[in-house]
Amino acid sequence: MKSARESDRISQFREGFRSVGEIQDARVYGRDPGNPYHDLLYWVSQELKPNLTVELGTCTGGSTSYLAAGSTGKVVTIDIETRPSAIEGLAKFGNVELIHGDTRDPVLAAEIAKRGPFDLLFIDTDHTADQVKAEMALYGPLVRKGGIILFDDIRMHPCMSAWWDELDEEKLEMPELHWTSFGVVFR
Ligand SMILES: C[S@@+](CC[C@H](N)C(=O)[O-])C[C@H]1O[C@@H](n2cnc3c(N)ncnc32)[C@H](O)[C@@H]1O
Repeated sequence: MKSARESDRISQFREGFRSVGEIQDARVYGRDPGNPYHDLLYWVSQELKPNLTVELGTCTGGSTSYLAAGSTGKVVTIDIETRPSAIEGLAKFGNVELIHGDTRDPVLAAEIAKRGPFDLLFIDTDHTADQVKAEMALYGPLVRKGGIILFDDIRMHPCMSAWWDELDEEKLEMPELHWTSFGVVFR
């Protein structure tokens, strides 16, 4: 059973984000008006003030730009394919480290773990249950108590949707962000 305190944290999170609107920051890019989770990434970074954010799935770096602009802490972002557009787009941020690698690789995860506990983890790779389970097994335990894990597209595939429904964590679903929904886990 969840405590009243944990429930307060969820409702404060939901209410806090409700009034945020589109982030106005000249450094960010890649926002999709039909799926404004990038605004949430920026807002969470501002609120949580993470020393270390880890993102799984950089793609062209749009989400990374929001995570990096919202915080002065380090943002480590991992992708199996490092795209030139991400390198170019993120060059303006002194707090971003791009890592080329497979998020399912335990050697890479052990290397990232040496940076210290994560305050914020954003999981946004292939949105399948097998992969998100592997990523949560490797990276989930590295998120400190009081930290946050964010997931895009939790309902893109039925298998991931079932995984989310069964996930036994203090969690919030934000279907208003995106038709494939968005998940937040509170540690
Ligand atoms: C949906 S995109 C990320 C979008 C980005 N986070 C954003 O919001 O702008 C998914 C990314 O995950 C990467 N990816 C998929 N499987 C991966 C794996 N096993 N390891 C690392 N990256 C992976 C893909 O190359 C792709 O760039």
